Amino acid sequence: MSAADQRGSGRHQLFLVRRAARSAAFLRRIPGADLQTLFPGIERLSVTLAHRARPRGLPHGDAFVLALICAYLRPRRIFEIGTGTGEGTLIMASNAADGARVETLDLGDAPSSLGVQSGDHPLEAGAVGEAFAGTSVAGAITQHLGDSAAFDFTPFRGTMDLVFVDGAHTADYVRGDSQAALSMLAPGGTIVWDDCHLYHPGVSQGLTSLLAAGHPVRRLETTRFAILRTSGGSR
Ligand SMILES: C[S@@+](CC[C@H](N)C(=O)[O-])C[C@H]1O[C@@H](n2cnc3c(N)ncnc32)[C@H](O)[C@@H]1O
Repeated sequence: MSAADQRGSGRHQLFLVRRAARSAAFLRRIPGADLQTLFPGIERLSVTLAHRARPRGLPHGDAFVLALICAYLRPRRIFEIGTGTGEGTLIMASNAADGARVETLDLGDAPSSLGVQSGDHPLEAGAVGEAFAGTSVAGAITQHLGDSAAFDFTPFRGTMDLVFVDGAHTADYVRGDSQAALSMLAPGGTIVWDDCHLYHPGVSQGLTSLLAAGHPVRRLETTRFAILRTSGGSR
């Protein structure tokens, strides 16, 4: 490795350490919970899972956990903020209730009105949703394009059994997307956030705001997810 490469690598390591330190200050305020306590009996379930891990997508372990949560809740209506290539959308649609509908939103060509976390550029519009295009569940999925900070969520108010928040990673976006998610929840609905970990301080920061407002958000131990279950559902 050349001296210039070594300096570049050293700067990157320092960047990661600083980012992790910022995240840790927020993460420690979010209580942890384990999957089997939140979803009693989930360990007995089987899931449908074919997953390709991509740079901005879910690691295999978290893909399995998302599939398990869907198999447990059997949601009839799902909203995802941040489609990406659509691997998560495909997992949720494949493990939801028969006849379930999935709405999924990504930026497309719209500008990010609340800014972008460094190193986290929106996905190019052509790649959005490519994982579920042409699959047997594609007909159950409605794709929306637009900035989540400007999107009109009101048609979905109070209707969603599961909301998966996995869009922009700044704290402002996480707060706004979380408010949208809360507004869309049906009684007994569940919100899952991705990227509640050391690499995305904006996610843990946004979630501590939710905690401060009285929402019992929990880090899902052994995963990058955070979760909020509300009461009133059948499970
Ligand atoms: C981490 S990826 C989503 C991964 C996907 N949920 C999965 O499970 O594979 C985040 C996505 O959020 C999108 N995004 C970023 N800012 C957004 C915004 N303001 N509104 C909607 N989507 C946004 C990006 O374009 C990107 O595709």
